Amino acid sequence: MHFEIIARCSTTRARVCKMTLAHGVTMLPTFMPVATQAAIKGLTPTQVESLGITLILNNTYHLNLRPGLDVLRQAGGAHAFQGWRRNLLTDSGGFQLVSLSKFTTITEEGALFSSPFDGSPTMLTPEESISIQHAIGADIIMQLDDVVSSLTTGPRVAEASRRSVRWLDRCITFHTSSGKQDRQNLFAIVQGGLDPDLRDECLEEMVKRKDHVAGFAIGGLSGGEEKDVFWRMISQCTAKLPDDRPRYSMGIGFAEDLLVCVALGVDMADCVFPTRTARFGVALTFEGALNLRLKKHATDLGPIDPQCPCPTCQVNTSRAFLHHTVTHETAAAHALTLHNLVFQARLMGQARTAILEDRFPAYLKTFFSGYYKNGQ
Ligand code: GUN
Ligand code: ZN
Repeated sequence: MHFEIIARCSTTRARVCKMTLAHGVTMLPTFMPVATQAAIKGLTPTQVESLGITLILNNTYHLNLRPGLDVLRQAGGAHAFQGWRRNLLTDSGGFQLVSLSKFTTITEEGALFSSPFDGSPTMLTPEESISIQHAIGADIIMQLDDVVSSLTTGPRVAEASRRSVRWLDRCITFHTSSGKQDRQNLFAIVQGGLDPDLRDECLEEMVKRKDHVAGFAIGGLSGGEEKDVFWRMISQCTAKLPDDRPRYSMGIGFAEDLLVCVALGVDMADCVFPTRTARFGVALTFEGALNLRLKKHATDLGPIDPQCPCPTCQVNTSRAFLHHTVTHETAAAHALTLHNLVFQARLMGQARTAILEDRFPAYLKTFFSGYYKNGQ
C-alpha cells in the first residue's frame, strides 16, 4: 500500500489522503459499499464501477460458506469471481459470526460455531481467517477480532479487547510468513468497548505492532450506544492512532455520522445502510431521507434530487414512479440503490473538496442546516 496525506483541515482533524492498492487509487475519506455475498444487492460490478466507486467490501464469513474456497481459488480470487476490477476489502468474519449466529462460542483458539448447513461444530481461528482472506485475495484484509456488543459491560469487555490484541499477533505471524504481505494489507481492529482506559490499552498495544500493520480500524461501536459516547470513543482513538496509516471506522453509514467521523480524522467507513434502506424505498438526499412509499410522493413528478448526477435522477425518474413501483418492482430498488450509493459518494467527495479548499467547517455548517431543515 502507498498512503499519502494530500491535505489537512486547519481546524479539525479531517484530512484528504491518496491510498494506492493493487487495484488502483482510492481517495480518502471514502465510504465503502458492502457486497456481502460478492455482489452489491441489485447492481452489477460494471454499474458500481461506473458510479466512480473504487473500493467495496466483501465478507469472509459468507464467501467461505458460499461459494467456498475451492471455487474462489479456481476463479483466481474474489475479484475475478465477481468481475470487480477495483479495490476490495474483506472483513475477517468474527463480527458476522457473533451477529448472525446465536450459537457462537469464543475460546482462546478462535470462534466456535455450528455450521449453518449441517450444524456440525466449526472453528474460525485467526490463522484460518487470514488464510481464507488470502484465497479471496482482497487488497485490504482485517484481523480476526473478538467483538462484543457496545452495550456489553463487565469483565467480558476487557477479555475481548485483550484477546483481540493476541489474535492480532497471530494474524501478523501468519500473514507475514505467507509471502502475501506485499499485495494484501492487514488492518488491526481496536476494541475496548466504551471504556476509555481499555480503548487506550488496546490501541497502545496495537500501535506497538504498527510496522506489521498497514492500517487501523475502530471496531465495537455503533451498536446502540449514545451518540456522544460514540463520538468520544472515535475522537479518543483518532487522536492517538498513527498519522501515517489509514483509519477505518467500522459499520458507520449515516451521513451525519460520516461527516463527524471525517472531522475527527476517520478516512474510511462502511455500512449496509444506504443499500438496505434503498430496498425499503428510502432515498437519501442532502435535505434528509425520503420515504418513497409514503402517499405524498404519489403525484410528485419531480426527480429525487434534480442536482444528483446518478443514473436514476439523470433521466428524471420521478418520485411518483418510484412510489408506484418501489414495493413490487426490483427495478425500483435498483434505481434507489444507484441513487443512494451516488449520494454517499457525493457526500464524501464534497467533504474531500472542502478539506482541499480548507473550508471544511463551513461545509459542515451548510450540510447540517440543509440536512435538518425539514426537522428530521
Ligand atoms: N463491523 C462492524 N463493527 C465491527 C467490529 O468491531 N469488528 C469487525 N471485524 N467487523 C465489524
Ligand atoms: Zn440520484
